[in-house]
Amino acid sequence: MSADARTLMILAGDGIGPEVMAEVRRVIDWFNANRALGFQVTEDLVGGAAYDAHGVPLADETMSKAQSADAVLLGAVGGPQYDALDFSVKPERGLLRLRKEMDLFANLRPAQCFDALAEDSSLKHDVIAGLDLMIVRELTGGVYFGEPRGITEMNDGQRMGVNTQRYTTNEIRRVARVAFDLAQKRDGRLCSMEKANVMESGILWREEVQWVGDNEFPDIDLSHMYADAGGMQLVRWPTQFDVIVTDNLFGDLLSDVAAMLTGSLGMLPSASLGAPDPATGRPKALYEPVHGSAPDITGQGLANPLACILSFAMALRYSFDLGAEADLLEGAVADALAKGARTKDIAQGGEHLSTSGMGDAVLAELAAA
Ligand code: IPM
Ligand code: MG
Repeated sequence: MSADARTLMILAGDGIGPEVMAEVRRVIDWFNANRALGFQVTEDLVGGAAYDAHGVPLADETMSKAQSADAVLLGAVGGPQYDALDFSVKPERGLLRLRKEMDLFANLRPAQCFDALAEDSSLKHDVIAGLDLMIVRELTGGVYFGEPRGITEMNDGQRMGVNTQRYTTNEIRRVARVAFDLAQKRDGRLCSMEKANVMESGILWREEVQWVGDNEFPDIDLSHMYADAGGMQLVRWPTQFDVIVTDNLFGDLLSDVAAMLTGSLGMLPSASLGAPDPATGRPKALYEPVHGSAPDITGQGLANPLACILSFAMALRYSFDLGAEADLLEGAVADALAKGARTKDIAQGGEHLSTSGMGDAVLAELAAA
C-alpha cells in the first residue's frame, strides 16, 4: 500500500443498511474512476449480520481492522429478529463497541434544510427556511457507558435498573473544543445544553464548557441552555442555533428532533471523530446516517440513500481533507433534489424513485458537474 492510499472500511450492517450502502459504493467508484481518489474499500459485518455469522455483533478481527482503516462507513444496525437476544450481544452493542474502542468522542450531526425540501418539514416553511445547524454530541461517555450499571435484585424481591451519568473534566473539555472549533469555522456561536438545574454532572458540564470558552475561545459567543428548553427551542425557532454541544443521551434525543426538522431522517448524515493521529493528523473516524435500520421498509427498494451518501461526503471533508470533492457531492445531492428526485419518505405522496433510482440521480448530477 502506498503511503497516500486511502482505506475505507464499509460495515453495511442490517435492515436498509446494505441497500443504502450499495449506492455509496457506486459514488465511491465514481470518485475513483473520475477523480482518481484511489479509495481502497473492504467490507465486513456488524450488528445482527455479524451476530448471525459469528455469534457476536462485532468480531474482534473486524474491530482491529476498523482501528487501522482511515475511515469506517457504517449503514445501520438492529432489527426485530434480534429483540430477544441477550443485551450483551444485541446489534447495537457492535456499534457502541466501535465508538468506544476507537474513542470517537465527538459526534457531528449537521441538520441542514435543502431548499427543495423546505415544504416537507412538519414545521412551517418560515420556521425552517435556511436552517443550518450542527449538533456536537459527546459519544463515548455519560450514561451510555457509566458504571455502575445493570439490573439487580433488591432485598424485597423487586428489581432495580441502574445507569450512571458520569463525566470528567477532560471528557467535557475535549468535546467542547471540537464544538468551539466548528463554531469558529461557521457563524461563531455555540450553545451548550445540559440539565445543570437537576444534575451535578450538568453543573460540571456547564462550568467546563465555560472554562474552555473563557480560556481558549473568547471570541466565540457561548450560551447555555437546559436541554429540555433546548428541545423546545429547536422546534420553536431552530434557526437561532449555529453549533450545539451536548452530552451523549441528550445529544441522541436532540439530534433526532433536529433531524426531523429537515423533513426526513433519511437525509441526515453524521461523523464520529476521535483525536487526530499525531503522525498523520487524521482522526479515527466513523461515518453513518442518523437513521436506523428501518425494518418496515427493508428489501423493498424504498430507502433513501442520501443520508448515507452525505455521510460519505463528510468522510471526504473530515478524514481526507477533500473539501472540494465533498462540496461536489453535496452539490450533486442538492441538484438532484432541486430537479425533483424523491424517494418515498420525501415524496409527499407523489411520484418517487427507488433507492437505486436516487443513486442514479446523484451520479447523473456528478457526471454533469
Ligand atoms: C444513534 C442511535 C444509537 C444511539 C443506537 C442505535 C445505539 O440511536 O446513533 O443515535 O443511541 O446512540
Ligand atoms: Mg439516536
